[in-house]
Amino acid sequence: MRLDKFLCTCTGLTRIQAKRVIGKGHVKVDGVVEKDQKVKINDSHEVVYDGRRLRFSGPRYIMLNKPDGAVCTSLDDDYRSIFDLFDIERVEDLMIAGRLDVDTTGLVLITDDGKWSHQITSPKKHCRKRYYAVLAEPVTDDVAQQFSEGVMLKGEKQPTLPAELEILSPKEVLLTIHEGKYHQVKRMFGAVNNRVVELHREQVGEILLDEELAPGEWRYLTQQEVDSVNHS
Ligand code: URA
Repeated sequence: MRLDKFLCTCTGLTRIQAKRVIGKGHVKVDGVVEKDQKVKINDSHEVVYDGRRLRFSGPRYIMLNKPDGAVCTSLDDDYRSIFDLFDIERVEDLMIAGRLDVDTTGLVLITDDGKWSHQITSPKKHCRKRYYAVLAEPVTDDVAQQFSEGVMLKGEKQPTLPAELEILSPKEVLLTIHEGKYHQVKRMFGAVNNRVVELHREQVGEILLDEELAPGEWRYLTQQEVDSVNHS
């Protein structure tokens, strides 16, 4: 976020007032007077206005490109937590809108807005998630049809909701599901005698993983991305 916008958000100043106080040298970023209103600010910066530390207020919405080998919980004896990847304040307020397995990579949405998170995770909302999967065996022709009709997973009482399978090559597929059962994608392929060897989430609702983000990197969502969840 630009420094002038950040100032407006945190203080209630108008954009013109913010530009004026920045221009007059009333604002320091990381201990140094900053007169460029366009400079980009994120949570790791310490912004001080007339001696007062300013903090991001309001809910935060984040996308992370989850790396392999990180867990979507705060504590784990064997793996590092995705929360260790955030150099951000009040990490303890953040929640994950749909976890991934430790060996799954890709798009994880993180927020401190419980209602927003619920729109994604509630089983009633049928929020779609698209995964790229590499399989152990070539996918057979009938699998797309089976997934579109729903398959029975071990231990479940209901078949899976209709899901869309796109075959990219004999062992590479895109699968879009509209629910989030435990290990769902892996179990779906298990149900058709195949096995997932690589899994990567590309999309949740309308939100696509930003290709600019390397594994382990994150960014704030744009307003349009945030709104896409509320309006879906
Ligand atoms: N389905 C899985 O099997 N694993 C994930 O991490 C996400 C969906």
